[in-house]
Amino acid sequence: MKSVVILISGRGSNMAALIDAAADGALPVRVAGVLSNRPGAPGLEIAARRGIPARAVDHARHPRREAFDAALAEAIDAWAPDIVALAGFMRILGDDFVARYAGRLINIHPSLLPAFPGLHTHQRALDAGVRVHGCTVHFVTPALDHGPIIAQAAVPVLDGDDADSLAARVLAQEHRLYPQAIRWFAEDRLRLIGARVALDAAQEGGASLVSPRVSARG
Ligand code: GRF
Repeated sequence: MKSVVILISGRGSNMAALIDAAADGALPVRVAGVLSNRPGAPGLEIAARRGIPARAVDHARHPRREAFDAALAEAIDAWAPDIVALAGFMRILGDDFVARYAGRLINIHPSLLPAFPGLHTHQRALDAGVRVHGCTVHFVTPALDHGPIIAQAAVPVLDGDDADSLAARVLAQEHRLYPQAIRWFAEDRLRLIGARVALDAAQEGGASLVSPRVSARG
């Protein structure tokens, strides 16, 4: 079974969704550990309560980005994971770090990329007047929020939404989408074709609405 290390910065609800999916068998991975760049991240406590090793690599103690990245990589590599999943991890990672985990570094972003990379995605979606918003799971590449898309889930933008109500609607989909996307990876069903991700749908018996590319093999 593949193992995953989850990187967080805050409340850790996506982390909890992954841990819970792994615990109930819906996600066939072993969560080896959780790391936060913030010692006070509530997610650390949530992980520990679920019996998952969790610790901080405090970015404030490593003012130079290269030093922080190296300390983080050392902590990750101690668990020798197959997958590194960013779940609300709020530090920009250097190119060397991204290259070290190329092809197994995955992120969830709260917008339908390539729309609204970066921060404050829900308010920006409202300001832009889009009628459909959502979330994206993607491979991480050096360009921020621009890696190959593994899966997306869309939600409507409703009249009367504010950033909080829209964020809550998206977050419910994030908790569904992230375990599913990581399951596909863990089952070796994702193939990179150029900048696109193809999903081997053989075991699913049909196309998934949340996959941009489905190949019909088998
Ligand atoms: C999520 O919306 C995630 O997509 C974004 O940051 C938020 C983290 O929330 N990157 P949580 O810590 O998983 O609850």
